[in-house]
Amino acid sequence: MKRVILIFTMALFGLIIPVQAQNKLIVNADQGKEIISKHIYGHFSEHLGHCIYGGYWVGEGSSIPNTRGIRNDIVTALKDIQIPNLRWPGGCFADEYHWMDGIGPRDKRPKMVNTHWGGVTEDNSFGTHEFLDLCEQLDCEPYISGNLGSGSVEEMSKWVEYITFDGESPMSNLRKQNGREKPWKVKFWGVGNENWGCGGNMTPDYYSDQYRRYATYCRNYGDNYLFKIACGPNSGDYNWTETMMKNVGYGMQGLSLHYYTTPTGNWGKKGSATQFNETEYFNTISNTLVMEDLISKHSTIMDKYDPQKRIGLMTDEWGIWTDVEPGTNPGFLYQQNTLRDAILAGINLNIFNNHCDRVKMANIAQTVNVLQAVILTDKEKMLLTPTYWVYYLYKVHQEATLLPVSITSNTYELNGKKIDAVSVSASKDVSGKIHITLVNIDPNKAQTIEIELRGVTAEKVSGKILTSAKINDYNSFENPNTVIVKDFNEAKLNKGILSVTLTAKSVIMLEIE
Ligand code: AHR
Repeated sequence: MKRVILIFTMALFGLIIPVQAQNKLIVNADQGKEIISKHIYGHFSEHLGHCIYGGYWVGEGSSIPNTRGIRNDIVTALKDIQIPNLRWPGGCFADEYHWMDGIGPRDKRPKMVNTHWGGVTEDNSFGTHEFLDLCEQLDCEPYISGNLGSGSVEEMSKWVEYITFDGESPMSNLRKQNGREKPWKVKFWGVGNENWGCGGNMTPDYYSDQYRRYATYCRNYGDNYLFKIACGPNSGDYNWTETMMKNVGYGMQGLSLHYYTTPTGNWGKKGSATQFNETEYFNTISNTLVMEDLISKHSTIMDKYDPQKRIGLMTDEWGIWTDVEPGTNPGFLYQQNTLRDAILAGINLNIFNNHCDRVKMANIAQTVNVLQAVILTDKEKMLLTPTYWVYYLYKVHQEATLLPVSITSNTYELNGKKIDAVSVSASKDVSGKIHITLVNIDPNKAQTIEIELRGVTAEKVSGKILTSAKINDYNSFENPNTVIVKDFNEAKLNKGILSVTLTAKSVIMLEIE
């Protein structure tokens, strides 16, 4: 009793520093039923800035080691994170792209103006054959975005025939003349991009009719079955989703969702990629957490029309969009990538995993040298960004069974606002290993978390961590290894309970056997 009174008196006079309640996580290791599609770990590459030209594509005559014009170091790096699919050629560029300009001898291909991205001349040297060669080198599935904005039904229909038809036809003969005898397999086909904006400024009613028309002529040739992805909503445009579900329904296999995080929430002055204070960091993370709400609300609408969840929600453009690096072309969207971006990626990927009953694909924008890139290049040099290392940590979730979790998290507070400090998702792979990915959002405090694993007897735990001294640390060409993955030894297993100290501002992957 005396002790209680003493503690009470000390607390009253501010002599005890309040200790935050313990974070607690329950992982139901015997209850999973949904598979986390590997396509949640997809990427997006547009003809924009130096993503393709000066990124993947250096040309066959380059002194940079390449295979048929495609950089070998980029291919190796992307294979190391098991890239499952690549979306191309845009983006807004797709809505102006005429695929026939990008086939045949390169020196004869017509040029065009890339009106969306810097007004530069596009010489079409990277086209259909080069892209599908890239996907074969990456061993990933192509995801082609067709032009509904300014292209014709006939043009889109012929593109499908050119790529996938095995018999005798005008388009398959043209493909053979251009050096490819056998058709390619292409599953993911986008029927338009952002048709509410750069893809034609359409209303959802008008677009849904257009979608039905274009999709009718995108044929399945032989055993090549297209998984048709319709243009979905811009962020929180729930009316777009409702209209598409009502008017198109099972005429599509996927509905896209685009949502970008800006640090300030202001598209005019988005904020710097590397120079930001804690308030801006807090706001960036709050703006990212909106993804949870967007996915839940769009899914609820989709559930009404598709309770069996046959139509996938494809978050095929997401990531942080900041001001460009000073001195670079504003139309090229070149930005550096810090530990903040890695935290943001970890949170988003946890959200997608936890919604894998509906989210069947997600594509971060954009793979090389554009927006939240996983790779940056400078002539012959290449570096891997902090975001790359999140994909490296999270690849263990691809095609694993999602494990339901329940978390009680401390909060991270700033300027009177609060967000949960810990983000998590967990899965079990085919060999029975459990992986838990945790993000400690709090940039100042470590978080101790107790993890109860229900339904399994854990015997061994190991881990990897991505963190750095400062939240705005990044990898530069001079110091490419400032933010990289290291071994993590702060997880202790005792009688089936894991006790883990999550370093401030970190992304952690635990492997439990
Ligand atoms: O990723 C950059 C652009 O963002 C894409 O071209 C467009 O689809 C979106 O608005």
